[in-house]
Amino acid sequence: MEFSATFQQELDELFHWRRDVRRFQTRSLPDGLLSELLEATGSAPSVGLSEPWRFVEIVDAERRSRVVESFERCNTAALEAQDPADADLYARLKLEGLREAPTHLAVFCDEADQKSRGLGQSVMPEMRRYSVVCAVMQLWLAARARGVGMGWVSILEPEVVRAAASARKDWVLIAYLCLGWPEEEHLDCELERAGWAEREKVAKRVSRV
Ligand SMILES: Cc1cc2nc3c(=O)[nH]c(=O)nc-3n(C[C@H](O)[C@H](O)[C@H](O)COP(=O)(O)O)c2cc1C
Repeated sequence: MEFSATFQQELDELFHWRRDVRRFQTRSLPDGLLSELLEATGSAPSVGLSEPWRFVEIVDAERRSRVVESFERCNTAALEAQDPADADLYARLKLEGLREAPTHLAVFCDEADQKSRGLGQSVMPEMRRYSVVCAVMQLWLAARARGVGMGWVSILEPEVVRAAASARKDWVLIAYLCLGWPEEEHLDCELERAGWAEREKVAKRVSRV
């Protein structure tokens, strides 16, 4: 399979236009779209072909509200821990779209599943979790390619999310994701817009030894 120069250019554009979205329209995703997106993550790489990802869609309002409350608690604590010079700006940042996003997805790593019989995981077992991150990244791009926004919320108590998702005991929380139609499209990321930090050239992070 050879990909055309046009495709390569469009793929780069997809990378550039992918955003962490926190401002969602409240209208639902059409039936079947989430399944289509999740199906697209199935070709993600995983250590030993372990496919340790487990996705739980959280639809129940009471379960969602427990997640929102967890965010409020954690974010209040994070604000209190800020350097005073940053506190005002931090307080103005929008760091989740939990209330507006029509779709909530908790993503776990199954630490107990033996499908891959441990291949590649004896020295660095954390590779299972990294495999789940690969799937999340694929989901992010698949969503963006279809015009769907996705936001990763990590200011949460994992045990609260595990309970809200009725996760099995061997499942470790990797990501809590909001999905939906974005309110707007933009090339610059939210934190740059807010003046919190700036994206830098990768070359600054590369060395040769
Ligand atoms: C592991 C991970 C956790 C993140 N958690 C949060 C979060 O809790 N709240 C938030 O607003 N953004 C979160 N983000 C999004 C980042 O802030 C965002 O990716 C970064 O600012 C760059 O913006 P962009 O994704 O639009 O390019 C997270 C991103 C990653 C990869």
